[in-house]
Amino acid sequence: MKNLMNITDLTVEEIDELIAVAEDIIANPTKYQDACRHKLLATLFFEPSTRTRLSFESAMHRLGGSVVGFSEAGSSSSAKGESLSDTVQTVGCYADIIAMRHPKEGAPVVAARRAGVPIINAGDGAHNHPTQTLTDLLTIWRSKHTFEGLTIGVCGDLKFGRTVHSLIDAMSRYEGVKFVLISPEELRVPDYVREAMDKENIPYIETTDLESAMPTLDILYMTRVQRERFFNEEDYLRLKDSYILTVDKLENAKQNLSILHPLPRVNEISVAVDDDPRACYFKQVLCGKYMRMALILKLLGV
Ligand code: CP
Repeated sequence: MKNLMNITDLTVEEIDELIAVAEDIIANPTKYQDACRHKLLATLFFEPSTRTRLSFESAMHRLGGSVVGFSEAGSSSSAKGESLSDTVQTVGCYADIIAMRHPKEGAPVVAARRAGVPIINAGDGAHNHPTQTLTDLLTIWRSKHTFEGLTIGVCGDLKFGRTVHSLIDAMSRYEGVKFVLISPEELRVPDYVREAMDKENIPYIETTDLESAMPTLDILYMTRVQRERFFNEEDYLRLKDSYILTVDKLENAKQNLSILHPLPRVNEISVAVDDDPRACYFKQVLCGKYMRMALILKLLGV
């Protein structure tokens, strides 16, 4: 049995394999339509989600399997005080694989000790979101056909944005990648992320200025300011519109820039940008379903 807690649980070779399987699913969907017949996925979501939960569920249905689960803690027995450990041990008696989102960092690691079936971290607090990163990697691969030599701008809430932390972990492993970390001072990447980049001599700069960084970027990864992680509403209101990507701000961008966003967006990208051919964020949503199909196949050993 294998779990997925962090993106670095997968080697670069395993990621290449997942991308190859996802590409094969895209090209030959009927080949996979019964691959998980009689298999059951449980989705345990203690935090809100649209894309992650529904893409996991549609992935399992497209593989011919079934799904059980809950989409809020209040409808499970955790509302009566049941521990996470007991909940996952129970669900492990029913399901073959579990995708779990939880507001506490490290909760999936606790769950994995007791579940008895593979556990996938579908987002833990402000920490990690490895399946979003698989989604991001397939999107980058499909638009750039390489992971090497890219300059990646990551913009917005780099402190609480768990997708950012996993993306940096993943892309740091490729030759020639540089990061431009664009955020307000208060929302810089956490020290542990910066220290890991320093230790591995990953080139990066930190800036507050999106416009001046724009012409250098191959990828622009916009993120939402994570209201749910703030201790006070005043700080959120002051910082929430720090960066709004508009059509005019793209004037100096490369013609082959790829604009990604894990979504949901609140106000970070103007709707007018959606018509720009460089906007990849809805293609990214679709990539999420295919990568989760590939991941389920891998973890179930199908
Ligand atoms: N990207 C992402 O995790 O979206 P959801 O919160 O809708 O699952």
